Amino acid sequence: MKALVLSGGAGTRLRPITHTSAKQLVPVANKPVLFYGLEAIAEAGITEVGIIVGDTAEEIREAVGDGSRFGLDVTYIPQAEPLGLAHAVLIARDFLGDDDFVMYLGDNFIVGGIAGLVEEFRADRPEAQILLTRVPNPTAFGVAELDGDGRVVALEEKPKRPKSDLALVGVYLFTPAVHEAVRSIQPSWRGELEITHAIQWLIDQRRDVRSTTIRGYWKDTGNVTDMLEVNRTVLETVEPSVEGADVDDDSEIIGRVRIEAGAKVTGSRIVGPVIIGAGSVISGAYVGPFTSIAQNCRIEDSEIEYSIVLQGASIAGVRRVEASLIGHDVEVTPAPRSPSAHRLVLGDHSKVQISS
Ligand code: G1P
Repeated sequence: MKALVLSGGAGTRLRPITHTSAKQLVPVANKPVLFYGLEAIAEAGITEVGIIVGDTAEEIREAVGDGSRFGLDVTYIPQAEPLGLAHAVLIARDFLGDDDFVMYLGDNFIVGGIAGLVEEFRADRPEAQILLTRVPNPTAFGVAELDGDGRVVALEEKPKRPKSDLALVGVYLFTPAVHEAVRSIQPSWRGELEITHAIQWLIDQRRDVRSTTIRGYWKDTGNVTDMLEVNRTVLETVEPSVEGADVDDDSEIIGRVRIEAGAKVTGSRIVGPVIIGAGSVISGAYVGPFTSIAQNCRIEDSEIEYSIVLQGASIAGVRRVEASLIGHDVEVTPAPRSPSAHRLVLGDHSKVQISS
């Protein structure tokens, strides 16, 4: 069995942090989303992986390399234009040969991996197996309609009026039967060959298409709340360690805290779960629970909690940052104080709070 990982796409969508880099490299607990997928594939016992790359090919290659550090053997397959997920299967035909494969969308995050699913698929070998999950915003996904017995009867891509809240998760298991399907469909209104349509084609041909509904799924849909939440979940599992980090005696480290080698902490209080990347400097600061600080950041004389800070960002002299997503190389500083006066006409017994 092989894996086909999709890591193309223009990466230009104006989402909080994906407008300047590949969406598959958005970090969760300081690790790109794509890496969790690659680890899940390795854990499922698959070693031959084809990665479809597009405009951001260079960034992806630089991050993943030959795959050996994941125990994988990676082949890069360039897709000249983002013509759809089924198009990716078409161009990967030589790589895939006549093997079964798992198709994994590199911007999807599945808590708990895929080893169990792959095992189930290997045992039963339906022509296709899809994963579904309940979402609050089904219009942003492919949506499945199931019959009373839980069989998939229809799939619709980004429906205006969704027939259910069961979204297609970006992990699909296929036998070579999918190759005929991807050759048989036409581009959608968005000009893409949709994998959703290829699976619908299999259903129409009365092929065996099964579904499994999962929990613990996340994808960057530009929703910061969701992203902070997935970061929180993953931080709760991070192995605590401060090995190789430079932490002075005036600092206090409490709970599940991982400070990477080469980071420096002086006169600060860090309350986990927290991860701090290599090369970051934390001084005179408070870093509170559920915070990921990437590499080469500077947090100085500031307080931050329940937030994600990307590479190279600096926060100095600011209290208190909460529930925030700070992009790479951002600088956060206090606003200059302008001379101000309060002119008040207050009725009897008023209670006023004025920040000064
Ligand atoms: C694609 C699929 C969609 C699926 C989603 C999951 O959407 O077309 O059916 O629900 O991935 O990530 P896209 O990312 O192309 O908008």
